[in-house]
Amino acid sequence: MRKINFFDTTLRDGEQSPGVNLNTQEKLAIAQQLEKLGVNIMEAGFPASSPGDFNAVKEIARTIKNCSVTGLARSVKGDIDSAWEALKDGAEPRLHIFIATSDIHLKYKLKKTREQVLEQAVAMVKYAKERFPIVQWSAEDACRTDLPFLAEIVSEVIAAGADVVNLPDTVGYLVPAEYGNIFRYIKENARNADKVTLSAHCHDDLGMAVANSLAAIENGADQVESVINGIGERAGNASLEEIAVALYLRKDFYQAESTIQLNEIKRTSDLVSKLTGMAVPRNKAVVGDNAFAHESGIHQDGFLKEKTTYEIISPELVGVKTDALVLGKHSGRHAFKDKLQNLGFQFGEEEVNKFFNIFKELTGKKKEFTDEDLISLILEEKTADRKIGYEFISLQVHYGTSQVPTATVSLKDQETDQIIQEAATGAGSVEAVYNTLKRCMDKEVQLLDYRIQSNRKGQDAFAQVYVRVMIDGKESGGRGVAQDVLEASAKAYLNAVNRYLVLKTNTEGLSKQAAVGS
Ligand code: KIV
Ligand code: ZN
Repeated sequence: MRKINFFDTTLRDGEQSPGVNLNTQEKLAIAQQLEKLGVNIMEAGFPASSPGDFNAVKEIARTIKNCSVTGLARSVKGDIDSAWEALKDGAEPRLHIFIATSDIHLKYKLKKTREQVLEQAVAMVKYAKERFPIVQWSAEDACRTDLPFLAEIVSEVIAAGADVVNLPDTVGYLVPAEYGNIFRYIKENARNADKVTLSAHCHDDLGMAVANSLAAIENGADQVESVINGIGERAGNASLEEIAVALYLRKDFYQAESTIQLNEIKRTSDLVSKLTGMAVPRNKAVVGDNAFAHESGIHQDGFLKEKTTYEIISPELVGVKTDALVLGKHSGRHAFKDKLQNLGFQFGEEEVNKFFNIFKELTGKKKEFTDEDLISLILEEKTADRKIGYEFISLQVHYGTSQVPTATVSLKDQETDQIIQEAATGAGSVEAVYNTLKRCMDKEVQLLDYRIQSNRKGQDAFAQVYVRVMIDGKESGGRGVAQDVLEASAKAYLNAVNRYLVLKTNTEGLSKQAAVGS
């Protein structure tokens, strides 16, 4: 059996999804879960793109011990130096350096000749190798690159010391046979290609990212780059869970295996979906809510007689739980602590007590606590930015069908500890809440998007609200979770404002999108 390495880029290419902006605590929570999932390499961010990204990559590199943490860099010394500073304390520092190689990128974006790009690529791989034990080199837009030139530049970067060569389908243009062919061509035509690991990186513009990644594996790629839930630039990247399950279920065909712990897939997918605010489509392969539902009578009949008639993936295989133990107001601290451990949280006594007290307080309003509820609650607490912006204190709303909705809000300014109280009206209750919050702040906040969903099935599920706002010409996203939809709405709005304030303190540096452009 061949071993396929999984390179996860949820925190870099995935985070480039429009509207997604994770804070350091959120990135850390995802990184820890990716480690449990068993990925071999995780791309934690693009250190030179902003101080926020730099700090997150540094924190992740310091924390994660069971997989290699990498960061992206353009082929310039400044990016490589900044990546080294962020990654040097990691268990296995690894650099991911890229330069575009297609004529279209050379002519319009880089305004360089092939010779200049080749020279820059070689010089920067050598420079990177003076620091990093492992260097991955990527040919951006490899799939629209002239193949003989691609083979030449790959040969030269290998001679310069690259350990991994990645051939991305940056614009999601190829079909599987063509993408597979590039790997075969490079194996046959690039000098010493057998001495390095070849890696696949596919975007999903034509819905072929997973099929293309698998075609690359068939043709010699020993590493696949993918993201949880298939999020990412434009139509997204190849979905990690789909590739991992396909390799496992079709071992007979691919003759390959990986270290991915399939039963951690659902938990990882839920976490990424919650923290990014990107809902998983119900019919999404492997992790969608409907992936294991059988609707037609004929299918149900067959399934009840023998599951394998219509089910190739069992829910248990990917960690979908159907019989989770529910906690309620009579549950004690012991059961609560056990549950936290089962959910994978490793907390000290102090944190257990803190969450137990929050849980007990909420059991006054809410009868049952499912795993989903506890995870939502804990993430909400653990990922909050505590030093900058506003803390939610209380909310009161008056609504009647023949009255003007009125809201009263009280907040704390986290820097000055000052309590701010305001009241305002609106055409509806949410608008009244948002008009009141605006009054509490000395800035113009424009609401761009508002979405609400429940965190699980059932009448007493938590409300999860996601908003996007525009402040000073900058977009910021926020999320809020509460039993009540209006409280969740207020928290999501504050969360978006707080994230903007955190970003504002990190304004130097490049914008990620402008810098990567892929
Ligand atoms: O899609 C792409 O080409 C990339 C590179 C930066 C590797 O994400
Ligand atoms: Zn990409």
